[in-house]
Amino acid sequence: MNLPHDPFRVARWRVNDTHFALREEIHAAIDRVLFGTMKTGYEVREAFEAAFAETMQQRHCVAVHSGTIGLFIALRACGIGSGDEVITVANSDISTTAAIRHCGAIPILCDVRASDYTLDPDLIEPLITPRTRAILPVDLHGHPANVAHLRTIADRHGLRIVEDAALAAGARDFGKPLGAFADVTVYSFAPLKPLGSVGNGAALVTQDADIHEQLRLLTYYGHAPGAPQSGHQHYIAEGYNTPLDPLQAALLSVKLPHLEAWTHKRRTLVQQYEGGLANTSAVLPGFRAESEPTFRAYTIQVPRRQAVYQALRDAGIEVVLHYAPATYRHPVYPSGLPGSQALRVTDRLADELVCLPVSPEFTHVEVEYVIDVLCRLLEEDDL
Ligand SMILES: Cc1ncc(COP(=O)(O)O)c(C=O)c1O
Repeated sequence: MNLPHDPFRVARWRVNDTHFALREEIHAAIDRVLFGTMKTGYEVREAFEAAFAETMQQRHCVAVHSGTIGLFIALRACGIGSGDEVITVANSDISTTAAIRHCGAIPILCDVRASDYTLDPDLIEPLITPRTRAILPVDLHGHPANVAHLRTIADRHGLRIVEDAALAAGARDFGKPLGAFADVTVYSFAPLKPLGSVGNGAALVTQDADIHEQLRLLTYYGHAPGAPQSGHQHYIAEGYNTPLDPLQAALLSVKLPHLEAWTHKRRTLVQQYEGGLANTSAVLPGFRAESEPTFRAYTIQVPRRQAVYQALRDAGIEVVLHYAPATYRHPVYPSGLPGSQALRVTDRLADELVCLPVSPEFTHVEVEYVIDVLCRLLEEDDL
């Protein structure tokens, strides 16, 4: 069977190859949901939640529709509300700041580290005020933010940590899957994420039983767990209706056991990029010794970024600019956001970063092609 592929010679999305390789297991898992009872679908979702929690070495997991709604529910479950301040970054998807504002809270922007593009813990304390309630670090591109360091700061000031690991399933830090130092961690299963569904999805993981109860309440209408004897509904909160679709849970259950191997493959491809680009004018990311990223992409800094970006795409390489411009510069925030005047590194990175494609389906030949084209471009002066 010939599978359709994007027109790019090196496309970001080749997951249909993986799905094809796993098709018998996937069909069986989906058939079970389609031809089971309604309860079967719920059981499949619950089994996925249990398996995901175990993989991430967490006690609890609630699977939801998307990372965007997941961030909002996670913040609400941590008690974030009107007028509270949440310290976060501006180099992220709009979901990060939007989730904070949907709670009625105020995002306070903090700059990032130039080496791995994640929240700089050394800049946090001056931003803390009596209204600060939480820190929201982002593991951008699959690079672990230093949440262990943030935890010591958060504990000193009585703050919650909601970790945005939307792009980072498979990454580890200090020998543990991401989330070990946060109150709640949000993983996305949008199609291009390291563990992707074919629609939308996300998981919220936590060690805390009270937070878990709140996550469940908000995800399931605010309905109290356990039906009262009368058989009536019993709402104890105004919740939402946002659990993960059982069909996506079935697909993700088949894929989850492969996450470690795919993460390893991503790292091998990145080693090849590192070797091939070492003596060029590109600036490559650097990581703390404890940090074991997964690479949703290989994101590097290049001179004359816009010209390099266009030339790579013209050569059939599906590079993207994530995330540029910084969120506070978008029209949705006409007056910017608090803290946006002091984001020197964030602003520079937004002008210089380009995300090279990384996907476990790639062969080394594809990465070699990207390296060859990029090396030639970086040697040209008149791009
Ligand atoms: C850093 C980050 N956070 C949150 C999200 C939102 O996740 P979702 O697409 O599942 O809503 C994304 C999506 O790309 C993201 O990149």
